[in-house]
Amino acid sequence: MRRRVLVTGGAGYVGSVCSEELLRQGFEVTVVDDLSTGHRHAVPEGAEFCQMDIGDAARMREVFAAKTYDAVFHFAAKALIPESVTNPAAFYQANVVAAAALIDAVREAGIRRFIFSSSAAVYGNPLQLPITEDHPTVPVNSYGETKLAFERMLAWYARAYGISVCAFRYFNASGATLAHGEEHVPETHILPILFEAAAGEREFFTIYGCDYPTPDGTCVRDYVHVLDIAQAHILALAKMDSPGFSVYNIGLGTSYSVRELLARVEQVIDRQIPWRASERRAGDCAVLCANPSHLMSELGWSPQQSDLDRIIETAWAWKMQTRPAAGLTQSARQV
Ligand code: UFG
Repeated sequence: MRRRVLVTGGAGYVGSVCSEELLRQGFEVTVVDDLSTGHRHAVPEGAEFCQMDIGDAARMREVFAAKTYDAVFHFAAKALIPESVTNPAAFYQANVVAAAALIDAVREAGIRRFIFSSSAAVYGNPLQLPITEDHPTVPVNSYGETKLAFERMLAWYARAYGISVCAFRYFNASGATLAHGEEHVPETHILPILFEAAAGEREFFTIYGCDYPTPDGTCVRDYVHVLDIAQAHILALAKMDSPGFSVYNIGLGTSYSVRELLARVEQVIDRQIPWRASERRAGDCAVLCANPSHLMSELGWSPQQSDLDRIIETAWAWKMQTRPAAGLTQSARQV
């Protein structure tokens, strides 16, 4: 019998790639997404699709009653850090209140495996680098705070109700497959914004802060390919046989500054990117860099796609495929 996974947020960036990878590996997939930030076209072909809010307990129960699920992968969340600083109410509602309704429905349905898409944002400003999972968690924005709150809730649920729960703290998810990539509206993430500036879709790229305590003054991040994130989920699923709560970083342990990434993108896609420096962005911390040894030793994770050039190439290829005009030079576009 083929195994079935319910994927919340499967119309979003990481959720769509994980769904695509699950289907490719022979799983059956049901995507639940309210399309508040996801896109219908991002739901992979072959997945069943239910457009609904994960916080709608009655409808969630109906979905769980209709089929037998081996696991739930929970990606649906609000995730834009700047917005989390100005509108924490929306983040608590989506990432804690609605998520709590979901895990209750999972518990009632007797589903025994739950994988949660958490974030490096739970750590806040690092005290030691690279960051291990036992690093203190002091979030600097409500996004990280709400991810942490739900992690803690899951740890109690795992213990009390015999569920096997795995939380993944992603560092900077990036890159694309040919079918699925990063498509946020509004876009706030660095790589798609660099591409927009490279393609003339925005006037310039803005560097948010050049006065951080880093070698070149700009923020440093650990970029991990979204397919390597998907791989971690599928490896975890294979090992989730006993109840309990586990947490893993997903990052490379190699990090790049905003200026370094800008220069690397220019080189890889062979375009000049106009840029300007501006003030720091609220909610950003100076450096994030993972220690992924726990994930490697426990789950046998071995990233295959996360070389920075590969991340840039795959994300650019996806953009060119979905927005062919981006591939044209400025003069060609004007013809
Ligand atoms: N940046 C710019 N200019 C831009 C956009 C971003 O300078 O136009 C900078 C940011 O200030 C930051 C870095 O590029 O220093 C990366 O920014 P992103 O918005 O791409 O990503 P974040 O690091 O803010 O957040 C991402 C995910 C979070 C996750 C976090 C953990 O969106 O979910 O990584 O590493 F928590």
